[in-house]
Amino acid sequence: MSRLLGGLSAAQFLSEYWQQRPLLIEQAWPGAGGWLQAEDLIELAGEEGIEARLILEQGATPWELRHGPFPAALFKKLPASHWTLLVQAVDHYDLQLAELLEELRFLPSWRIDDIMISYAPPYGSVGPHDDRYDVFLLQLHGHRRWQVGPIVDADHPRLPHPRLRLLQNMPVDFEATLAPGDLLYLPPGAAHHGIAEDDCLTLSIGFRAPNLAHLLEHIVDAVLESQPGPVLYSDARRQPSPHPGQLGKSDIDSLRRQVLALLDDKQRWQEVLARTLSEAKYEDYLPQGESYEPEALRAYLQNGGQLLRDPASRFIYTEDEEQHIQAWVNGELRPDADPELFVRIADCRQLRCPAGDGLTTEQLAFLCAWIEEGLLLPGDEEEA
Ligand code: SIN
Ligand code: CO
Repeated sequence: MSRLLGGLSAAQFLSEYWQQRPLLIEQAWPGAGGWLQAEDLIELAGEEGIEARLILEQGATPWELRHGPFPAALFKKLPASHWTLLVQAVDHYDLQLAELLEELRFLPSWRIDDIMISYAPPYGSVGPHDDRYDVFLLQLHGHRRWQVGPIVDADHPRLPHPRLRLLQNMPVDFEATLAPGDLLYLPPGAAHHGIAEDDCLTLSIGFRAPNLAHLLEHIVDAVLESQPGPVLYSDARRQPSPHPGQLGKSDIDSLRRQVLALLDDKQRWQEVLARTLSEAKYEDYLPQGESYEPEALRAYLQNGGQLLRDPASRFIYTEDEEQHIQAWVNGELRPDADPELFVRIADCRQLRCPAGDGLTTEQLAFLCAWIEEGLLLPGDEEEA
């Protein structure tokens, strides 16, 4: 049972709400306020390389959008109301948030994009809009008044804005004020508008859905690269043509089938999908680690220490035809991974190996090498 779904089972949620309709769960996570404060978010928004945006409802232009980094001093100069600071991928920096993502283990982790957190003073809002992806909105601090409407299509009238998908009119099915710990799930395309009632911190778990056109491009590229030479159309034993000027239906059908047969290679699909879906959120991301001695690591784990999967990296595993595990990290196949440990880390975000859970010398060497690469992170040593 996921803590995020109130009393619903994952199966019920998936069959009745996921990708279909909004769901409000009061007090889904009563302790949500303990994670992060507005000052923490403002500090993150000031750092180079962190994706931060500021939306000022009454800025230089209506709904002015600015991109970070933003020096902390800027926030002292902003008006007392009507703006929102949004910081993406906070889960990459705040390791405590892994606890929250673990509650979504009923969905494959490749469907999860990141955790965004917003801070807004009273009346702060990003405007009425719809998002392309599913989202769980968890109220951390303060209160936000939400209007939620139906799923709107691409033709719904929009406000002219270069970047934001703002709705010209906001269709409302229901309204609710979310207090800390309350959660709102929205499917892709649902109209929504949230307005801060006081100093307000809202966390969004955003999902991703691959663009099928991009997947097609990747698979076509991979198939073409794998061909040693051109594969030509063949038509042995064809029927005589009654109309030589016509490109006939049976020829169209057989050309289509021969092209699709090129693409119909399960092994290739598996590789292309695992490579593509395991790419890190940020293309230029380079994990950084530090060296760790195998015996020190053994002692650390035996004393209850844990290793966390680097939250900015994506881990996926597949099975080949002989049911061997193939480990993929950040778009690369990693034959050096220990299959058993990799599966545990990819499924659970963390690895605990209490005393008795004997690790071989090879397994320790693998863990140390990945800690050094920054793909595995020892938790706080004092906790061990
Ligand atoms: C917000 O946190 O202010 C907006 C989130 C959303 O509407 O998607
Ligand atoms: Co939204």
